[in-house]
Amino acid sequence: MAAQPRSGKVTVVGAGFYGSTTALRLAEYDVFETVVLTDIVEGKPEGLALDMNQSRPIEGFETRVVGVGGGSYEGTEKSDVVVVTAGLPRKPGMSRMDLIETNAGIVRQVSENIAKTSPDAVVVVVSNPLDEMTALAQIATGFPHQRVMGQAGMLDTARFSTFVAEEVGVPVASVRTLTLGSHGDTMVPVPSRCTVDGRPLSDVLPADRIEHLVQRTRNGGAEVVALLKTGSAYYAPSAAAARMARAVMEDSGAVMPVCTWVDGEYGISGVYLGVEAEIGRGGVKRVVESDLSEDELAGLREAAEAVRAKQADVADL
Ligand code: NAI
Ligand code: 2OP
Repeated sequence: MAAQPRSGKVTVVGAGFYGSTTALRLAEYDVFETVVLTDIVEGKPEGLALDMNQSRPIEGFETRVVGVGGGSYEGTEKSDVVVVTAGLPRKPGMSRMDLIETNAGIVRQVSENIAKTSPDAVVVVVSNPLDEMTALAQIATGFPHQRVMGQAGMLDTARFSTFVAEEVGVPVASVRTLTLGSHGDTMVPVPSRCTVDGRPLSDVLPADRIEHLVQRTRNGGAEVVALLKTGSAYYAPSAAAARMARAVMEDSGAVMPVCTWVDGEYGISGVYLGVEAEIGRGGVKRVVESDLSEDELAGLREAAEAVRAKQADVADL
């Protein structure tokens, strides 16, 4: 079989749980030439990269992983995509918002370095609080809004789908769900867009069970944090971020829920918010609006105002 062509460079900043699992997923796709994993800690990304590369003969991929520690950006230059995972995760009892000051300092510094070393990159932010850190990364890089987006909606949607599949007792592939809004208290799971084998969710489950699953989705991150005791989720989150980076690199035009700049859609303007968007080489090609119920639309507008207030604060952090 002819060798698959590989192209492009993706850098993952932060070699913690989220960053290292994202780097491995990206490498295992075997579509990139190089995956660079960086961290302020010396040795950790280098060691992880060495280990990941040694899995190549077993898993059968050729993408090379390069580890760069000590806060250096050497080797990341001219990346096509940069995934920002640098920052503290939350501990049990903490909200994502409790991380804002510490992570803002980290995300600002990382973003300034990305702008210097990879000025044409598409940036995918995952550091929390997500909506605010995405807004800050756009300000600090100075990149056009389309080239800076955040990962949250794919994760929250995947959680919603998993809970529905388990409740109904069907394969996850039978379920379509959608989650919009913020990656926080004003998350907006969208039951009106959910189906099981093409049937509306409201035909499959009673309203009180749907409401229970909506609440569990809103609390999805905290549920994992409470069990882990230290750190937060990373397997499902890294799957989401890696898919976004791949959609950019392959210019796939896939429509996915992402945190992006909303400019008039749903009657909302001038804020980073979770909505569906078409993803390609330049980042977000367009926001895709869909029909929402009155309650869901009101929830989305409420989320926009909550995020707007906090995003104004991060500009000064
Ligand atoms: P972690 O603590 O395992 O890793 C964070 C890494 O960032 C550490 O290795 C640390 O040394 C590194 N770091 C800190 N400052 C840095 C800098 N200036 N430059 C480069 N690296 C730096 O945490 P984990 O689990 O990897 O989570 C990372 C972030 O992702 C957290 O803020 C967490 O809340 C967030 N997260 C977001 C999700 C989402 O859906 N958006 C889901 C799960 C986590
Ligand atoms: C999550 O949703 C903590 O944001 C992280 O798992």
